[in-house]
Amino acid sequence: MIRGILTRHTGLLNQVRFGAAPFARISNTLLSAGTNTAWKRYHGHLHKPKAGEELHVTFILKDGTQKTFEVAEGDSLLDIAQGHNLDMEGACGGSCACSTCHVIVDPDYYDALEEPDDDENDMLDLAYGLTETSRLGCCIKMDKDKDGIRVALPSMTRNVSSTDFE
Ligand code: FES
Repeated sequence: MIRGILTRHTGLLNQVRFGAAPFARISNTLLSAGTNTAWKRYHGHLHKPKAGEELHVTFILKDGTQKTFEVAEGDSLLDIAQGHNLDMEGACGGSCACSTCHVIVDPDYYDALEEPDDDENDMLDLAYGLTETSRLGCCIKMDKDKDGIRVALPSMTRNVSSTDFE
């Protein structure tokens, strides 16, 4: 339901993230109020891509800079981000039980992704700064169809604890 409400506003957010520079300030304001990103973990589990089978992923960082990596099939966006010391928390260790690996997928690549399952949708509903093309980094595993994918890291993420449900 929350996603449905937000879809009306995500066109603007995606323009902000992936190309409409004049709106960048709006995006930063929308995505920066709120929760913490003060800590990070660096424990990615990357595989070395086989020669000639390298896949590519570009992360748009919180400051707008872009980092492109050659990666192996099967690696998740969470593994890739953490393996390259990007600021992706991954509090649940990639078990789809938090929303701290939230990424905003470039709309040009979103339709190539498999539909999120119910668990991912439930966690996405709790993600801070949710957009129409939001996904969880631990649920997206690289394959040939995703070669070249671009994702933005939101300015803030929100972790969920048992106290949030009390
Ligand atoms: S790392 Fe927790 S949902 Fe992806």
